[in-house]
Amino acid sequence: MNTLRIDEGTRLLVLTGAGVSAESGIPTFRGSNGLWENHPVERVASPEGFRDDPSLVWRFYSQRRAGAAPCEPNPGHLAIAEWEKKLGDRFLLVTQNVDGLHRKAGSQRMVELHGNLFTTRCTRCERTPFEDRLEYPEGTVPLCGECGGALRPHIVWFGEMLNPRELIEVGEFLQRLDTRLVFMAVGTSGAVWPAAGFVDGARKGGGQTWLVNADPADNADRFHHFVQGRSGEVLPKLVTFE
Ligand code: OAD
Repeated sequence: MNTLRIDEGTRLLVLTGAGVSAESGIPTFRGSNGLWENHPVERVASPEGFRDDPSLVWRFYSQRRAGAAPCEPNPGHLAIAEWEKKLGDRFLLVTQNVDGLHRKAGSQRMVELHGNLFTTRCTRCERTPFEDRLEYPEGTVPLCGECGGALRPHIVWFGEMLNPRELIEVGEFLQRLDTRLVFMAVGTSGAVWPAAGFVDGARKGGGQTWLVNADPADNADRFHHFVQGRSGEVLPKLVTFE
């Protein structure tokens, strides 16, 4: 297996997807037995679906909370948290995962691009999104204690915008001039934008690009290096610091 050498003149941007949490027991989205094979995406993960049947959406996310709550980070999450400790501000993690396992593993310099499964927000008032680990009984829609509006999961659904501040943070990290960039995507099918395009942003700035994935991702040919395997096995051995 190739190893990735990181010295003092290098910064590292890591993008993760559902594959990183697969070894912790959380299902991925695409492929056989993926979440989107068994659930109608547009009904449970879009603003229109929530408008039509909010209790169905809450049932889906309550089930996902129940599935994710007992899961623990695996050696892949832990390796990424270690890299951050070594690199400080020369490191940024961007995750599409909403399961909170990176935080549980100790990651802090992190953008949760698609939101967080254990955070809820109000659809009506401006209150700050808040931690919420409850699983709501079937057929119910929780209401805001402050204004009575319907609550919703703090997840970015299909057709919704990502947080522009977070995209700016990623863009600024990609474009920094003080160090050489290494970009690594792990456990993501490269099917969902804008994350699937980060590799092109990294290459434009002269960055070295690595993909670690169980299967060739849709955008695999855009990467300089492809390490095929399970992230929990590959990541702890992949990087050496000089
Ligand atoms: P996908 O389910 O699309 O892809 C997961 C990828 O991980 C696949 O390419 C698998 O081959 C790979 N994989 C599986 N197990 C692995 C392992 N142990 N080690 C390494 N790789 C492994 O998940 P994402 O790319 O994360 O968005 O999906 C992106 C977004 O699409 C999600 O955030 C979600 C979904 O719709 C929203 O819900 C908004």
